[in-house]
Amino acid sequence: MALELGLTGKVALITGGSEGLGRAMAQRLSAEGARVAICARREVVLRRAAAEIEAATGTPVLAMPLDITAPEAAARFVEAAVERFGRLDILINNAGTSAGGRFDAQDDAYWEGDFALKVFAAARCIRLAVPHMRRQGGGRILNIVNTAAKAPRPESLPTAASRAAGLALTKALAHEYARDRILVNAICIGVVKSMQWERQRLAQSPPPPPEEFYAQMAARAGIPLGRVGEAEELADLAAFLVSERAAYITGVAINFDGGRCPVV
Ligand SMILES: NC(=O)c1ccc[n+]([C@@H]2O[C@H](COP(=O)([O-])OP(=O)(O)OC[C@H]3O[C@@H](n4cnc5c(N)ncnc54)[C@H](OP(=O)(O)O)[C@@H]3O)[C@@H](O)[C@H]2O)c1
Repeated sequence: MALELGLTGKVALITGGSEGLGRAMAQRLSAEGARVAICARREVVLRRAAAEIEAATGTPVLAMPLDITAPEAAARFVEAAVERFGRLDILINNAGTSAGGRFDAQDDAYWEGDFALKVFAAARCIRLAVPHMRRQGGGRILNIVNTAAKAPRPESLPTAASRAAGLALTKALAHEYARDRILVNAICIGVVKSMQWERQRLAQSPPPPPEEFYAQMAARAGIPLGRVGEAEELADLAAFLVSERAAYITGVAINFDGGRCPVV
């Protein structure tokens, strides 16, 4: 018998769903029958993604062009989704980008920008989504972070710090919301194909073929499984964690990294 995820009719909010991992998760949840709301700053890219997902799955997708760090943006996003779909079951805090480099060369503004996106915007989305989930008798919150949260490497700040905060948020809120049957988990990403890497590939002159580019990346990173991850593989894990089949899992942070992180 196939694994029935029980996502049909659920409503999922995904921050940063126009490209990369967010888009793959939106497509996967939509294919499972969930109504999905996605946001991103670039409106054209966002609307194109929403239209393509809708066309592929036949399930409505709401596109909200906004910068999730802006004041009131999270409130507008949550309210628009609830108004359009009538409920809210799943929140995936995904919007983000890698921020690292030599600590000496960084200033307060760089750190503030990283925390605004990865910590404050995520916390705000959770605070706004929870009352809807609580009213419905439960929900799922999934925080997309990275493995530096558990095992910081040189030049991984400020991301390692903001992602560690994401793990603290995950664990503390898993305890706090358990009584409301709102489950809070995290996925710690290693290296997964997405637009942020595609942009780096295309910036090279001439751009190397994707297979070569990602093979070199996997070799440089020393990934035990010998390759970088696929966005669709990440979407499979995310779909399971926010599904009815994961009803006894809360407060965990799963590495999705081909075995690279030294910490379980
Ligand atoms: N891919 C990896 O190997 C990897 C590794 C570790 C962690 N992660 C984490 O996984 C998440 C997804 O990354 P990705 O690789 O899929 O990146 P991506 O391909 O660059 O996609 C990022 C998405 O987030 C949106 N976004 C970024 N900033 C935003 C903002 N302020 N407000 C609203 N939307 C915003 C982008 O659209 P706009 O630019 O139009 O806003 C885009 O839709 C991030 O949190 C990232 O840090 C990824």
